[in-house]
Amino acid sequence: MQDAKIIDWYRLRRDFPILDQQVHGKPLIYLDNAATSQKPRAVIEALTHYYERDNANVHRGIHELSNRATNGFEAARARTATFINAASADEIVFTRGTTEGINLVAATWGLKNLKAGDVILLTELEHHSNLVPWQLLAQRTGAKIAYVPVTGDEGTLDLSRIDALLAPPVKFFSMVHISNSMGTVNPVAELCARARKRGIITLVDGAQSAGHLPVDVQAMGCDFFAFSGHKICGPTGIGALYGRQELLNAMPPYQGGGEMILSVGYDKTDFKPAPHRFEAGTPDISGPIGLHAAMDYLDAIGRDHIWRHDQELANHACEKLSALNNIRIFGPKQNRAGLVSFLLKEVHAHEVVTLADQAGVALRGGHHCTQPLMHKLGVESTARASFYFYNTQAEVDHFVEVIREIQKFFGQ
Ligand SMILES: Cc1ncc(COP(=O)(O)O)c(C=O)c1O
Repeated sequence: MQDAKIIDWYRLRRDFPILDQQVHGKPLIYLDNAATSQKPRAVIEALTHYYERDNANVHRGIHELSNRATNGFEAARARTATFINAASADEIVFTRGTTEGINLVAATWGLKNLKAGDVILLTELEHHSNLVPWQLLAQRTGAKIAYVPVTGDEGTLDLSRIDALLAPPVKFFSMVHISNSMGTVNPVAELCARARKRGIITLVDGAQSAGHLPVDVQAMGCDFFAFSGHKICGPTGIGALYGRQELLNAMPPYQGGGEMILSVGYDKTDFKPAPHRFEAGTPDISGPIGLHAAMDYLDAIGRDHIWRHDQELANHACEKLSALNNIRIFGPKQNRAGLVSFLLKEVHAHEVVTLADQAGVALRGGHHCTQPLMHKLGVESTARASFYFYNTQAEVDHFVEVIREIQKFFGQ
């Protein structure tokens, strides 16, 4: 294990060709990592190598290229299992991303197991990806949705009534690990343990956590865990769903087609066991191969070190932003993940983002796909800076200077 002190974050930065450019004549400062991360050369080269040397369809051919493609694809599955410490590669289903992983669980486990009168428990922090699929499922089954409340601008969950909330008729509890709009880190292991005691199945949305801190799904005790490759230095369009094996094998297929069958007759089809049962049709093959390279890259740095660096940058940003007047900062004061959401008095978040862009700083402004949470907090949108290991303290300092300039522009 490397010591945090000797990691050269500036050197790692050079692995990302995209960061070395000017935007509007200013050096790019990319602080939109919660939306998507940038890709290191190792990932770009893995994709190029695959397309230049190994491209073929998987699981079908017995020729050399097909074997190479299949081996690369299945090696990526095994690597994904170790990345989140799943007990077996058979517990990893490749998906297009977190959104598809959650929709898969809703459409298969949910449709099979939920009925009118049951309750799906969510939190008020959820991304639309962990909200809308459950609303659709509720409409189809007659199940109801309940929410663990959020305390206010700090964006932490009010867990004072959690045991009362985790009671019949709750059958399923889906929760975000790290909130993409507040930076809250939820105590998912504790919540999953409480749910499990009551026989409630759990899903953890790991979109913002998987690439930022060590994840161990067995220690977490969740039944399902979903994440996206593009937020962890991998390609877009690929992600993974972890599911406990006995649950996956008891679930009906998600989509029908080639690759997911044992045998097909005109009247009847026998399906493969998990995970292939859930991967109908030709999958994204380069995606898992790029994702494999990304996971190797991140773990060579160490996600414990990445997490510390993320938190240092976020704490530094919060401290400096807090020194400004006329600013409202969202998110927890303790144990904040690597992002900060804020609003300047009488300046729309989109204006902040547009002006920051002119200064070369890439932020995000909007509801961050958490519209109900924004409504609850009485705002329409926030501006958000989100960090990753290739960001530096100097970039954070410059970002805060840019925010100060924007305030001056608006006469504050
Ligand atoms: C917390 C959270 N959940 C789910 C998602 C959806 O991820 P994707 O669009 O990659 O499916 C995101 C994306 O921003 C997110 O931040």
